[in-house]
Amino acid sequence: MCGIIGYTGRRRALPILLEGLRRLEYRGYDSAGVALVSDHKVEVIKAAGRIYVLEQQIDPHMPQTHGLGHTRWATHGAPTDINAHPHTDAENRIAIIHNGIIENNRVLRTYLEQLGATFRSETDTEILAQLIAHFYEGDLEHAVRRALHDVTGTYGIAVVCADEPGVIVAARKGSPLIVGVGKGEHLLASDAAAILAHTTQVVYLDDGEMARITPDELRMTTLDAIPVARGAEEVEWSLEQIELSGYDHFMQKEIFEQPDSLENCLRGRLDLNEGAVRLGGLVDCTRELTRAKRIVMTGCGTAWHAALVGEYLFEELVRIPTETEYASEFRYRNPIVDDGTVVIAVSQSGETADTLAALREAKQRGALTLGVVNVVGSTIARESDEGVFLHVGPEIGVASTKAFTGQVAVLAMIACYLGRRKHLSPSAALQFMDALAQIPEQMRRLLDRADEAETIAHHFHDRENWLYLGRGYNYPVALEGALKIKEIAYIHAEGLPAAEMKHGPIALITKGMPVVVIATAGVQYEKILSNISEVRSRGGSVVAIATEGDSDIKQLADHVLYVPDTVEPLQPLLTSLPLQLIAYHAAVQRGCNVDKPRNLAKSVTVE
Ligand code: AGP
Repeated sequence: MCGIIGYTGRRRALPILLEGLRRLEYRGYDSAGVALVSDHKVEVIKAAGRIYVLEQQIDPHMPQTHGLGHTRWATHGAPTDINAHPHTDAENRIAIIHNGIIENNRVLRTYLEQLGATFRSETDTEILAQLIAHFYEGDLEHAVRRALHDVTGTYGIAVVCADEPGVIVAARKGSPLIVGVGKGEHLLASDAAAILAHTTQVVYLDDGEMARITPDELRMTTLDAIPVARGAEEVEWSLEQIELSGYDHFMQKEIFEQPDSLENCLRGRLDLNEGAVRLGGLVDCTRELTRAKRIVMTGCGTAWHAALVGEYLFEELVRIPTETEYASEFRYRNPIVDDGTVVIAVSQSGETADTLAALREAKQRGALTLGVVNVVGSTIARESDEGVFLHVGPEIGVASTKAFTGQVAVLAMIACYLGRRKHLSPSAALQFMDALAQIPEQMRRLLDRADEAETIAHHFHDRENWLYLGRGYNYPVALEGALKIKEIAYIHAEGLPAAEMKHGPIALITKGMPVVVIATAGVQYEKILSNISEVRSRGGSVVAIATEGDSDIKQLADHVLYVPDTVEPLQPLLTSLPLQLIAYHAAVQRGCNVDKPRNLAKSVTVE
């Protein structure tokens, strides 16, 4: 998903655009470009590759005070110089940057070709540049609005014109866009991280809205030209939070931030004196929640794994039928949703297209919708009926880590909150909350032994096939461990319920194949030990994640990583950390780009 930035003010735009692009690079990093406007001319410089490739091709002293910047995650057209954004019209008078997909691009292209237009790139975005130019009669805002009336698809766009110095016109439908409000300047960005260095005052655009910004004015309207009045909001994150702070990678930093990020997530929500969970975001819907007949958790990727842990938590603590749905399947499956259904959308970014669409589908069918989201001001946060924020701070690394433990912790708190209003006894709730309150300290103890996971990664990082096995609450953790090593170390891995091995996957076991087995204390401990024997007897190398004090397992497993003991429903908050570390160190050992893994992006805002 692409990163968009724009600046109009009195300072030189280029350094602001480039710094913003560096902060947006986790959104997409296969090509980048800028457009700078002055003297009735639009200058576009763009290149395939990372931002530093673009910087090598730019005169760093360009004086313009008005411009756009874009970092791309290719959907239409390979990541080449010509397909990089910004795109312009044939006369290079209008330049556009775009995050999203113009679905009717072929129809529009044919229409414009019949009018004599020719195209330089394979992108859907260049078509929009030409369409806007086709409607341009001296008013950029009007031309953009007119063009968008013919467009179907998703977009976050920003447009400049050589004839309108200082003016940026933006529009949003499906992809996030915010306006940063400064003194004598305005900025535009896909997310707050890109402009935090310049302002913490932002205005969020909703779907179907446009903004026209100049150094001194922000005018917002709908696509039908109806004025929109919306005040600026304060962004709670600090610049320091989005810096590496001495770590080699954001993923590494975010793994080691988890004791603190979880403390922030729990702060003010666990009242151990009263034995009560306090979730302000649910107060207005508590009655409806307790009357719910069915809970549907939905999300994508890591968020889906956290949702699966949530399913186990809700069925155990709330005793309510709960299921977990991939958002991309749920949204198109004509889902059975009625007013007794509660749909919980789990998302770090709050912008994932499939999860947002699943939420809208559920809402439209009458469900109460909750958001479990990290990014304040994000679309899922603003469109869900109620919700709970993670408060784990910005997550920059593409591979999600602290957001996963934040999502599990929030779902655990919601389950305890509702459970207390149903069957959960005060003492059981207190025991659960007490165990949850101890997790941050237990994480610190675990991370003090992070080098042990590094040794495992060093031992096995050259193996191309791994298996991850777990039972109960640790089955989703096995899925998460496999996803982590897939997405950042490019190792083929599969997570499975351990008992499923005998039904086929055990055929994959070859001599020395690493098999990570989560074998912590619990009701299925004996069962998981026999799964370990099955793997060992076929020559697999077992890496066991075990509970501190369990010396027996050393007889069975080739390698053991210990985690502190906690109640079974909360084990994913501890057992996931060694798996994050193994994946991280395997990726480093293999020379992979940990924070910007190939073919991926942090927030998937297109289908
Ligand atoms: C996880 O490491 C990946 N970045 C990806 O699977 C991610 O979890 C998924 O795209 C969902 O993102 P969200 O939580 O922002 O909705």
